[in-house]
Amino acid sequence: MYFRISLLALLASLVLSCSNHASEDPTAIMPANGNSGTAKPDSSKTAPSLDSLLTKYDPPDRVLWQKPELVIQKMGDLENKVVADIGAGSGFFSRRLAQHAKKVIAVEVDPRFIHFMDSIKLVELAPEYQKRFETRLATYDNSKLKPGEADIILVVNTYIYFQNRVQYLRHLLEVLPDDGQLVIVDFKKKRLPISYPPQDIRLELWRVEKELQQAGFNNIVSDDCSLDYQYIVTARKGRQVQ
Ligand SMILES: C[S@@+](CC[C@H](N)C(=O)[O-])C[C@H]1O[C@@H](n2cnc3c(N)ncnc32)[C@H](O)[C@@H]1O
Repeated sequence: MYFRISLLALLASLVLSCSNHASEDPTAIMPANGNSGTAKPDSSKTAPSLDSLLTKYDPPDRVLWQKPELVIQKMGDLENKVVADIGAGSGFFSRRLAQHAKKVIAVEVDPRFIHFMDSIKLVELAPEYQKRFETRLATYDNSKLKPGEADIILVVNTYIYFQNRVQYLRHLLEVLPDDGQLVIVDFKKKRLPISYPPQDIRLELWRVEKELQQAGFNNIVSDDCSLDYQYIVTARKGRQVQ
């Protein structure tokens, strides 16, 4: 355990020292808590360090409440599926998905996380899984996914960061194949025993459902029981099934 934490810290510092990118700062965007989701980056803020982002996004107890294997299991049989993990961050989900899916595309706007994932996959994953793990640098309004490339799109703890959420969902609808699926996991807007993310940057489940509907997704199914702190919403591109 100690070895793993030291390794992560070492990788983070290596990535920091190798990368002088003036990255687009995810937390400089005030995640929108209202209807619009049209927050703009605040260029007056300095970019938080990769270290501080990792501490915030991946606290030591995360695996206990995040239950990544349960979330992945709920995505069904992934053996022949390509999964895109949008806003992949440190690769918390991508690294695990690579061991279940045909391929995982870890989509990120922050080049420091791209470097981090490219490094960590080499130390954490067996060679057969490394081949299935691709990182991709995106822009805030374009996932850079090619149409039909991913069967399933996963968005964990990132939905609130989309600058125009409905517009971005329409983009995801465009790149998904006809029977494609979107899975959104995010924090419940209620009192929780965790400090991040604060209440004011969480979204009510009904807003997520409403925005999915507005964007044109069908078969929207919400599960706010399986995880203590988060809801899991799945939606499909295809026709509504009664
Ligand atoms: C809170 S972190 C979540 C990381 C990861 N999904 C996880 O669960 O550990 C949000 C991540 O989304 C990225 N991000 C924000 N907006 C994005 C966008 N439009 N497209 C891709 N990544 C985005 C940020 O750079 C950040 O790494």
